Amino acid sequence: MDIVNVDYSTKIPNNVGLTEDRRILRALESWHPGYLDWWMDMGPEGFQESLVYLRTAVSVDPKGWAKFDYVRMPEYRWGILLAPQEEGRKVNFGQHLGEPAWQDVPGEYRAMLRRLIVIQGDTEPASVEQQRHLGTTAPSLYDMRNLFQVNVEEGRHLWAMVYLLHKYFGRDGRDEADDLLRRRSGSEDAPRMLGAFNEATPDWLSFFMFTFFTDRDGKMQLESLAQSGFDPLSRTCRFMLTEEAHHMFVGETGVGRTVQRTCEAMKAAGIADPFDTEKVRALGVIDLPTIQKKLNLHYTLSLDLFGSEVSTNAANAYNAGLKGRFMETKIEDDHRLEASNYPVLKMVDGAVKLIDEPALTALNMRLRDDYTADCAKGVERWNKIIEKTGVPFRLALPHVAFHRQIGEFRNVKARPTGEVIDGATWEREKDNWLPSKSDGDFIVELMKPVVEPGEFASWIASPKVGIDNKPGDFEYVKIAA
Ligand SMILES: [Fe+2]
Ligand SMILES: [Fe+2]
Repeated sequence: MDIVNVDYSTKIPNNVGLTEDRRILRALESWHPGYLDWWMDMGPEGFQESLVYLRTAVSVDPKGWAKFDYVRMPEYRWGILLAPQEEGRKVNFGQHLGEPAWQDVPGEYRAMLRRLIVIQGDTEPASVEQQRHLGTTAPSLYDMRNLFQVNVEEGRHLWAMVYLLHKYFGRDGRDEADDLLRRRSGSEDAPRMLGAFNEATPDWLSFFMFTFFTDRDGKMQLESLAQSGFDPLSRTCRFMLTEEAHHMFVGETGVGRTVQRTCEAMKAAGIADPFDTEKVRALGVIDLPTIQKKLNLHYTLSLDLFGSEVSTNAANAYNAGLKGRFMETKIEDDHRLEASNYPVLKMVDGAVKLIDEPALTALNMRLRDDYTADCAKGVERWNKIIEKTGVPFRLALPHVAFHRQIGEFRNVKARPTGEVIDGATWEREKDNWLPSKSDGDFIVELMKPVVEPGEFASWIASPKVGIDNKPGDFEYVKIAA
């Protein structure tokens, strides 16, 4: 069968030959009803009957892989899509460097690989759960549609990991696939596996920050798994990355449009001081210092997702050829890392210092550094928007020692500048750095739904172009009465 085009003749669209793979087709078909129950329970609340202008993948060819149409979300064709197999692909790092990439799971790495897949899989439905209440306060139909697009694609990413579990891990893979539908974001007894995926997403600014910062962690993880010597994992991650790009677009433009609207409203009202929050808020926009606080929160929660800076798990996964570095094949070194070092930020005698560690155990730190560099570029693009309006304010990433719960700095209190402080100072000043209860209340108050085609809430600018080049007043969601 053609692996570029997707077979829509089965209940589960796919380019992995499911029709000829009856055992896996049956396994997935028996998982499907539980997935739909989960989607109805935990998916976008109040919009399951609405027609949403969504894109669906119809091929894995980078050109023209998607088609757009109105779909009720529960009828979205969640499929199994892998990037085409590359002839002669090799293991590109670790102790198996140069061996042919594996088409089956190497027995010795079964548990490690399953764990990597389950952790990735767990994040996908978690974000849908976190975002399920946002539809009712969408600032426009355009934004509502983007939210739902992200949600159905996270659902598809869950399918991607569940396929690998069913196909390659037998009985325990099936159990893990069931557990992915059992855990719930924020639940007491069965929480999602990673911290940031148990936090609430209470408003649309949080959603945009989440898709900018937390989906970008997802991108970095997928990039490293796309390097995997286990070829089916690599191929599935490569296709997921094409979808992930839209999630980060939603985040970056969402924050960008919020910032732009704030600055434009300030200019129009003749407010020069960005810290005059009361006056700025009275304009029905979100003041820039509060946007900075939201940025601080979501960036630091996302940094925690990289795990401990120094980690033997990361070293083992690399040695085994299962999880590589960002852009592994573009890096010029031995791809074994047996003798090299990497500088790691650590607490030494109460001060933050760079210390050389063996590169192999410092892989989480390296990936986090690559992530920070990627985030910083986006922040600079936001600053360009502010600069153009002439408002004297700059957004910035806080220091990695600030507000951490995992790794070197978890027991440290630090200012956003990285300066270490005592607990009393932290308690006194933290509301200047992280969203306070009253900041949250203000934003929630502002989140009034706007459902007229082409209209936008007071706090956000309209986008430069529509989705699928649609005109400004396009009805992206036909809300069911
Ligand atoms: Fe995802
Ligand atoms: Fe995503």
